[in-house]
Amino acid sequence: MIIAIDGPAASGKGTLAKRIAAHLSLPVLDTGLLYRAVARDVVAKGASLQDSAAAVAAAWSLDSATLDDARLRGPAAGDAASIVAKMPRVRLALLDYQRDFAKQPGGAVLDGRDIGTVICPDADIKIFVTATSEERARRRHLEHQSRGEPITYDAVLADIRQRDERDSNRDVAPLEAAEDAITIDTTTLNADAAFAAALQVISAKAKPPAPVAAPKG
Ligand code: CDP
Repeated sequence: MIIAIDGPAASGKGTLAKRIAAHLSLPVLDTGLLYRAVARDVVAKGASLQDSAAAVAAAWSLDSATLDDARLRGPAAGDAASIVAKMPRVRLALLDYQRDFAKQPGGAVLDGRDIGTVICPDADIKIFVTATSEERARRRHLEHQSRGEPITYDAVLADIRQRDERDSNRDVAPLEAAEDAITIDTTTLNADAAFAAALQVISAKAKPPAPVAAPKG
C-alpha cells in the first residue's frame, strides 16, 4: 500500500507519516529532506542557492546516507530547500529515488508537497494535511525552542508564509492537494487526534465498497 501525505510547512505531515508508517510497519520517506540536503550540498560547494547548474549536479549526486543530518532540521535549511525545489531539473533528478522508494514490496509512506500529484499519482491513499499559518508557526516555534534554537515566533511565521508562497506559486509541482486527496485540517487537532483521523481515512479506503442491496420482489 502506498500512502501519500502532502501539506504545507509544519502542518504535522511528518509526524503523521511516521506514526502511520510505524502502525502499518511500512518504510517512510520524508521527501523534504532530499531538497534540504541538495541545498546543503550546494552551499558546501561554495555555490549560490540560485545557481541551478550547481543545484542540479548536487541533486544527481545526492547520497541518501547523508539525510540523517541534524543541520537539515533548522529554519535556514527549510528556506534554502524551497529555493532549489523550484528548479524543474532538481525535481527531475530526485524523481526516481522517490518512486523507487514507494515501489518497495508492501508499499511505503512518503510525505512532501507533490507526492499525491506527481511522485505517486496512483497512491492507494492520499492525505493532505493542513492548518492555519499561525498554528503551524506556533508548533514550529516550540520545536525550535525545544532544540535551543534562538528564533522568535514572528520570524518563524514570516518564514512559513514565505515558503507557502514560494511552494504554492512555483511552475512545477506546486503545493496543492490532489483531486482525490482527503484533507485533514489539524488546526484544532493534537497529534493523537490527527493520527486517529488519518486511520479513519485509511480504513475507509481499504474497505471494499458495501454490496448494493438486491431489489426486493
Ligand atoms: O518540514 P517542513 O514542512 O517545514 O519542510 P520540508 O517538508 O522538509 O520541505 C522543505 C522544502 O522542500 C519545502 O518548503 C519545499 O519547498 C520543498 N519540498 C518540495 O518541494 N517537495 C517535496 N516533496 C518536499 C519538500
